Amino acid sequence: MKFITAIFFVGCVLVGLVSFRPSQLNRMAPISARADTVKIDKETGLIDDSNLMMVKSQCTACHSSKLILQHRFTRAGWVERIRWMQKYHKLWDLGESEKVVLDYLEKNYGPQTGESRAAFRRAPLKKVEWYKLN
Ligand code: HEC
Repeated sequence: MKFITAIFFVGCVLVGLVSFRPSQLNRMAPISARADTVKIDKETGLIDDSNLMMVKSQCTACHSSKLILQHRFTRAGWVERIRWMQKYHKLWDLGESEKVVLDYLEKNYGPQTGESRAAFRRAPLKKVEWYKLN
């Protein structure tokens, strides 16, 4: 009986090994790694563009970049978040960098821009023409 169990076990391992395809690992990659048109910064997971360094230095000192990755706001929405952190969480005055940071956030993490266009649900349709079914 033990012999049969051993054969069965070895069989399972072999089937597992034979059906393993490294290409399948890609499918398990996070959304951010799938979009091949955008470059992703390895360290933070944020979209890499010319303003990334500023965002990294101003926005990842207190918390993980995941807090940015998890949100999509309009420019006004991002300003609101920044003011909120300044009021309650000791975020400093960003001075001239604020514009750079907001340009980056609006471009890459707006509700309908950058990565979100590909990864999230589209905006509701606006001018829908309804017709009667007979
Ligand atoms: C001085 C520290 C500090 C810095 C620097 C900082 N934050 Fe925050 N931020 C916080 C704290 C504290 C929270 C609240 C975390 C929590 O709720 O667990 C927060 C929360 C957030 C949230 C979540 C807001 C929500 O509605 O839940 C976002 C988005 C965010 N930060 C983005 C940014 C961005 C963008 C920058 C760069 C401009 C930044 N943070 C820089 C302290 C900071």
